[in-house]
Amino acid sequence: MWYFSSPFVVFGEEALSHLEQLQGERALIVTDATLAKLGIAARIEAALHKAGMATRVFAEVEPEPSLQTTRRGAQVAADFAPDWIVGLGGGSPMDASKAIWAMYEHPDLDPTEINPMVTLGLSKAKLIAIPTTSGTGSEATWALVLTDTAEKRKFSTGSRELVPTLAIVDPTLTQALPPRITADTGLDALTHAIEGYVTTWHNDFTDGLCLKASQLVFDYLARAVADGNDLEAREHMGNAATIAGLGFGNANLGLAHAMGHSFGALFKQPHGRAVALYLPYTIDYTANAGLGRYGDIARFVGFTDSRDEAEGARLLAAKVRELEQAVSQPMSIAAFGIDRADFRDHLPKLVEYAEQDTQFFTAPRIPESEELAQMFEYVYEGKPIDF
Ligand SMILES: [Fe+2]
Repeated sequence: MWYFSSPFVVFGEEALSHLEQLQGERALIVTDATLAKLGIAARIEAALHKAGMATRVFAEVEPEPSLQTTRRGAQVAADFAPDWIVGLGGGSPMDASKAIWAMYEHPDLDPTEINPMVTLGLSKAKLIAIPTTSGTGSEATWALVLTDTAEKRKFSTGSRELVPTLAIVDPTLTQALPPRITADTGLDALTHAIEGYVTTWHNDFTDGLCLKASQLVFDYLARAVADGNDLEAREHMGNAATIAGLGFGNANLGLAHAMGHSFGALFKQPHGRAVALYLPYTIDYTANAGLGRYGDIARFVGFTDSRDEAEGARLLAAKVRELEQAVSQPMSIAAFGIDRADFRDHLPKLVEYAEQDTQFFTAPRIPESEELAQMFEYVYEGKPIDF
């Protein structure tokens, strides 16, 4: 027995106007200071006011949100008593809104106690996720990543009950996104799509989603990076991110996320940039053992007609590297400006955290510790994996 979880998705231009039709009394918007300052939170409030709702904004979510922030947000929710919680922003506010939702319903719950085995029984509020980047897919998934600032460590967890009730994917919200963030988040979506397709938990319901999302990123990411106002590219990238979210959210991920989470936490790098770094190397590594089904993706996207799996994987890894270069993604750990001594000092932790990551165990090929350390060494140098 298996499950497929999904929000009700509203997408395309004017998608935001759907908010005006909602029924409710009070909506708490969970976002960050920048989106509040840019007037995006006010835009959401205006739509909710048209629906007759009172609103409050909690704009304190930082990048890589901490446990402490979600506890403060839950306190604001307890005071305001919303029947809708709105996660507005990139992955950070959306993930924080899931934790705040759970703690609002259960004031004694600590976010570290959220896991797929615990029944939450959410009844006081529903969750709306409104992404302002095209990448994390958090609007479509039950997963959340929080940071324990004391331990300098991220932990990812989730609950099927924390899938947003409603996801609103409106391309006009990503128009102002700078090229660097467009690239980082878009490559995160590509990593979701490719890893979601090859994970050992892939299934009939997720395969098509992951293939389509891969194709959309290859077709539209470079355009969205080159011209943020290319609304057609923005719309397809927004759709790609949500579609990939539905795919991997119901299938899990693999080594690029395990290694990227570890690297991102230890060297304070943005999520998308960190995981995208490892994507081509993990394709090399997995395909070297004849695993990964990468040929399907290469064929679907239109890179080849050949049914030769090894050739398809080689081609896919090459096209990923080509796209990453085109959008100025650093291609090695050294290219992140990390010196060798610093890297070596962190290597044992890089390996340990990656091995403990929730995405590690569903990779189609799983390295032993020594091999994983060697992979990190290759990525430091920018050498394709040859073992
Ligand atoms: Fe990701």
